[in-house]
Amino acid sequence: MTKPITEEAITNLYCDTFPTSLTIADLGCSSGPNTLVAVSEIVKVVDEIRRKLGHKSPEYQLLLNDLPGNDFNAIFRSLAGFQERMKKQMGDGFGPCFFAGVPGSFYGRLFHAKSLHFVHSSYSLKWLSQVPIGLDGNKWNIYMASTSPPSVLKAYYMQFQTDFSLFLKCRSEELVAGGRMVLTFSGKRSEDRSSKDCCSIWELLAVALNEKVGGGDL
Ligand SMILES: C[S@@+](CC[C@H](N)C(=O)[O-])C[C@H]1O[C@@H](n2cnc3c(N)ncnc32)[C@H](O)[C@@H]1O
Repeated sequence: MTKPITEEAITNLYCDTFPTSLTIADLGCSSGPNTLVAVSEIVKVVDEIRRKLGHKSPEYQLLLNDLPGNDFNAIFRSLAGFQERMKKQMGDGFGPCFFAGVPGSFYGRLFHAKSLHFVHSSYSLKWLSQVPIGLDGNKWNIYMASTSPPSVLKAYYMQFQTDFSLFLKCRSEELVAGGRMVLTFSGKRSEDRSSKDCCSIWELLAVALNEKVGGGDL
């Protein structure tokens, strides 16, 4: 669902300025089969357009961010094979691509001012910077649930607002003028706490955990 949105954003960015070097950051990249998917798709879009237009390939700087506990070594070890596959797929004239791991929380500054052309983040912004303050009265739940009092919803809302505002402030300092950002994360359309829009899976997990606690011998 988000692929066409990302494609449109990177196409517009490239065609607005035809940069000779492009710095792309993926925030919350994790380490595993999905880690390099986003950046490689973005690079492929640019390469296709620049070929059609007969332009020389830009140099790519690909910045992979996650929390310090992320297995960056596994990512680094996979890069040689990944670069080989990219070169084969894209053919002559592609790149070069320079990779760097950037450990740290995206709820703070991570990059030089005005250094990023494109910021991508998928399924990471739903992680808050801390457990919200004011979760009293949410006993037996591990998140917002149909039995949570309104104060709990407010506590999550306030924490998200603080975190997301900080995220946007930091990125606004790091993006170049005219840079683009595509953020994918889940939300809910309904104000109804028991709506299946987003929280129901956590309610099910809470039921399982409560069973274990209650079961005692498990
Ligand atoms: C579900 S994974 C998403 C992985 C990948 N982007 C994807 O779409 O498949 C969420 C990632 O966000 C990272 N993350 C959570 N909070 C973060 C923060 N404050 N700063 C940087 N990364 C964070 C987690 O460590 C985790 O690797």
